[in-house]
Amino acid sequence: MTAPLKHSADITVDVALGDRAYDIVIGRGVLASLGARVAALRPGVQTAIVTDRTVAKHWLEQTERSLTEAGIATSRIIVEEGEISKTYAGLEKVSEALIAARIERNDLVIALGGGVVGDLAGFAAAILRRGVDFVQVPTSLLAQVDSSVGGKTGINSPQGKNLLGAFHQPVLVIADTSVLDTLSPRQFRAGYAEVAKYGVLGDEAFFTWLEVNHADIFSGGAAREHAIATSCRAKAAIVSRDERENGERALLNLGHTFGHALEAATGFSDRLFHGEGVSVGMVLAAEFSARLGMISEADAARVERHLASVGLPTHLQDIAGFAQEGLKDADALMALMAQDKKVKRGKLTFILLRAIGRAAVANDVEPALVRDFLQQKLSG
Ligand code: GLY
Repeated sequence: MTAPLKHSADITVDVALGDRAYDIVIGRGVLASLGARVAALRPGVQTAIVTDRTVAKHWLEQTERSLTEAGIATSRIIVEEGEISKTYAGLEKVSEALIAARIERNDLVIALGGGVVGDLAGFAAAILRRGVDFVQVPTSLLAQVDSSVGGKTGINSPQGKNLLGAFHQPVLVIADTSVLDTLSPRQFRAGYAEVAKYGVLGDEAFFTWLEVNHADIFSGGAAREHAIATSCRAKAAIVSRDERENGERALLNLGHTFGHALEAATGFSDRLFHGEGVSVGMVLAAEFSARLGMISEADAARVERHLASVGLPTHLQDIAGFAQEGLKDADALMALMAQDKKVKRGKLTFILLRAIGRAAVANDVEPALVRDFLQQKLSG
């Protein structure tokens, strides 16, 4: 597979969910079309934009302009940046502001931001007046290829990440690839882990293409739109077959069982961004698959090599503060994995590899095997 080398026209990916189907519109500059698209979808609607301080600084005015030029009334709700907003307090703030702004059943909430804003605003929309529709305008690579698509919304409990939430599909996703130009290289890289994930879990040809074209994705060339569209198509196909994660959708959690435990062990702090945890977790999942004889050591090394080549952390030892902090305890990591949403009746669920591009859900993984594997990695 080779990349289209010129920036193409906007790409629309359909999420085929019957009467809740929606479009993901991908392209440089598509944010300017938000107002016209919203007006076509919901004539006369009132909107409230939920965003965070940093995104507001870069993109709020342009978003508001697009809406007002299309005759759409809008108000703004600005939250603190980061996981601190994905809390009961953050949800209360957004919900009360939406009620104060008189957002009614037929109106729209617009989530303008990364994964935190999308999850929080989507959940607030899901429970406001028992359900108000919302539009996702993802501004991080991670949100464009993962969290804005598929309807998972929610907040964290003090006892664990994303433990409170609802499936609530957006009615439209606008993924403007030029907004990614203001991300820090580290944030962009973290999102790239989720792009690579689609290759590793279900599309070997895409993984091979990424090995060749990753530099163009990072520099904002045409490969960026192609990678985002391919990722969104992969996710849309899985979500349309298994919206509520009764089976196949769990494949999207590749790298997340290990990754969430590592995020928890580092206090959901800047020491490890979510995508970085997924990168380390995906390598651990590949290496564990090799340990179980499901893939070759060479395939596991290939996954590691690609993620490392873009500068992502791939080993436990790459995580900031590894030497000093409680990460080095295999039992503590096992305890954190046991609190994961993916645990069923005490059994750990992992997404393992049968090949690059062919992941499988493994329920019932023997905890002692995982513990021994982790122990070895921690001392390696
Ligand atoms: N991020 C995994 C999913 O949406 O299912």
